[in-house]
Amino acid sequence: MEHLAIIMDGNGRWAENRGLKRSEGHKEGMNALLRVIHRVIERKIPYLSVYAFSRENWKRPRSEVDFLFALFSKTIDDKLKELMDLGVRVVFSGSRERITRNLLEKMDRLSSETQLNSTLTLQVMLDYSSEEEIERAVKNAIENGRIPPTYQDILSFRDNPFIPLPDMIVRSSGEKRLSGFMLLEAGYTELGFYDILFPDWNAEMIDKIISDFSRRRRRFGGLS
Ligand code: IPE
Ligand code: IPE
Ligand code: MG
Repeated sequence: MEHLAIIMDGNGRWAENRGLKRSEGHKEGMNALLRVIHRVIERKIPYLSVYAFSRENWKRPRSEVDFLFALFSKTIDDKLKELMDLGVRVVFSGSRERITRNLLEKMDRLSSETQLNSTLTLQVMLDYSSEEEIERAVKNAIENGRIPPTYQDILSFRDNPFIPLPDMIVRSSGEKRLSGFMLLEAGYTELGFYDILFPDWNAEMIDKIISDFSRRRRRFGGLS
């Protein structure tokens, strides 16, 4: 598998099941992401995309949104060295308009400092919506003279056009929907839905996903 994409869901339920605040679930979700990154590297998958915050997540209570953005900011500070040591290149996808200048600077620094790392490319979808990414890509394609843009043109003007299409999109917590994730890229992507809440994900979960993927027969419309 070259590119695994994860919809990290169920943080709130993980916390509520334990009588904790939802924010505790988000903290544990971030710890789970680090476990996932380690295993993805060990299993030699070169691209990992993760859905961290959707455009629609702004509808949540202000206190939860503020907590999440503070957590993203703190995680960049705390994990930069670990990500460097692991050889992770971090890139972001999503709208930059609603994110504070302070966090944008940290995100840009993280991307530029890790840009030469080549063990794993981690694409973080933050304030992401496929609809908006498609609109941005179409606008850029038109501004660059691709009129009307073909599907390939639109792909080549998405936020990180060098990232291959995802081989598999998986979602934790039992929900079976994409919630606006990678709609442009998912036409022939394998889908996997797992009941385990994201804060409980560990190395074995990644092994299970890789094993499930290896049993899929991808035909792309042809005959095996
Ligand atoms: C995923 O967990 C994290 C984000 C969407 C930011 P949720 O916060 O959606 O957790 P549930 O789905 O309410 O359990
Ligand atoms: C999707 O999860 C967004 C992220 C995982 C960041 P949500 O919990 O926001 O999605 P819905 O509302 O259940 O569709
Ligand atoms: Mg959710």
